[in-house]
Amino acid sequence: MTAPQDKAAGRRSAVLRREAVLAAVPVAVAALLGATGPATAGTAGASGVGDPYFPLSGNGGFHVEHYDLTLGYDTSSRHLDGTAVLTARATQALSRFDLDLKGLKVTGVTVDRAAATFRRSGQELVVTPRHALRDRQQFTITVRYNGTPAPVTDPDGSADGWVPTDDGAFVAGEPQGSMTWFPSNGHPLDKSTYDFTLTVPKGRTAVANGVLRSEHTANGRTTFRWHQAEPMAAYLATATVGNFQVEKYTTPDGIQVYNAVDPREAKEAAPVLKKLPSVLAWESKLFGPYPFRAAGSIVDHADVGYALETQTRPIYDSAPDLSTLVHESAHQWFGDSVALTSWKDIWLNEGFATYAEWLYSEQHGGDSAQKSFDALYARPASSHLWAFPPGNPGSGANIFDTPVYSRGAMTLHELRRAVGDKAFFRILRDWATVHRGGHGTTAQFIALSERVSGKNLGPLFHTWLHTKGKPAKA
Ligand code: TRP
Ligand code: ZN
Repeated sequence: MTAPQDKAAGRRSAVLRREAVLAAVPVAVAALLGATGPATAGTAGASGVGDPYFPLSGNGGFHVEHYDLTLGYDTSSRHLDGTAVLTARATQALSRFDLDLKGLKVTGVTVDRAAATFRRSGQELVVTPRHALRDRQQFTITVRYNGTPAPVTDPDGSADGWVPTDDGAFVAGEPQGSMTWFPSNGHPLDKSTYDFTLTVPKGRTAVANGVLRSEHTANGRTTFRWHQAEPMAAYLATATVGNFQVEKYTTPDGIQVYNAVDPREAKEAAPVLKKLPSVLAWESKLFGPYPFRAAGSIVDHADVGYALETQTRPIYDSAPDLSTLVHESAHQWFGDSVALTSWKDIWLNEGFATYAEWLYSEQHGGDSAQKSFDALYARPASSHLWAFPPGNPGSGANIFDTPVYSRGAMTLHELRRAVGDKAFFRILRDWATVHRGGHGTTAQFIALSERVSGKNLGPLFHTWLHTKGKPAKA
């Protein structure tokens, strides 16, 4: 520890504030970065971005513009060999910085091709470049590493990150699993483009995000190259490996679809996956154009107990039902394209994706959203649904709990009732449009809702997002 605690905390929140502004106004990035203080020999980058739920998640002092990940995975020994090349930009003068990496063995780190010193400290890989970095300087970090990746256990007990399976690995990193398989600035505040070069035994398929650039087999191994062109939070990256049946096509809207399905799940998955183009088209009508050039699904046969909205290509641990496909697809707008700045805002992901399920049902001959709302509202005050308000679930252990999903969706329904359908659907669409490719906060959502509707919505959001217990009937 070099800096006193309070100073370090101040710096972390300054990073958060600055990033939040950057996210809202992308064109101002260069100008804002330029407003930072004069270059010095530099100080150490913070070990986290200051998220109270995951204090070591992400890192201060730099932004990663691009990850180039070259990974080889041996499905029988479960050994991973990795080279990560990060193109980064300093947001302060830096004497040293951290990356998030848990487990695995680091065999070398370079910064701008000069050997850097490094040490491991829990989930932090602490890198000291030979020369301090200037504020705004672009630099390249290369990390060579290998080992047997293992998932991290989240505060709620779920396994997250690189999860080995009987035929490969199920790779899903929400909220903190990216550090189990590549060194990252692993908080959703930092979004980056990605290239993946994945080599696996011949016969296995390695599926990442974005567009498949090439597939090449030699010497008993196949290399898959994937490119994710739109910025992505690290937790949404995947490099899932397994025996997969692959299906590729382009939708009438020009979206490149790549589905990878474990043969054991194929029969059950087929009728649901067939609906992906129509689900994306329906969501595009409601939320605005689909934000990515690629789409698809990964249907694995694994035991993790959840699905994840991995960017462009959600991952399912078994054949999904239609409402789960609708949910993960809605996340492409809400969570992926419009990302969180802080995990306490998780209702902006889960409440919205859940409400998309209600809307889908309403518009496809099922229950109305009002009926979904009423069924939940009928639950007694003692029900777990009312255990905490969704606007700040209180800790990382609660971010995927019922109040976030269900009461989060109920919040949107109450908004809809208060402003009417016309304003409500305009709000959803404007939200996805204004923050497309960037970030959004709860405060920004409330401000947008008030702007579009012309109504004071403070009390409504206060009641539904921030007040303990079951809200009284409006
Ligand atoms: N965000 C996922 C969804 O709602 C759920 C999820 C991801 C999850 N990781 C998790 C749930 C870990 C519980 C534990 O689609
Ligand atoms: Zn979700």
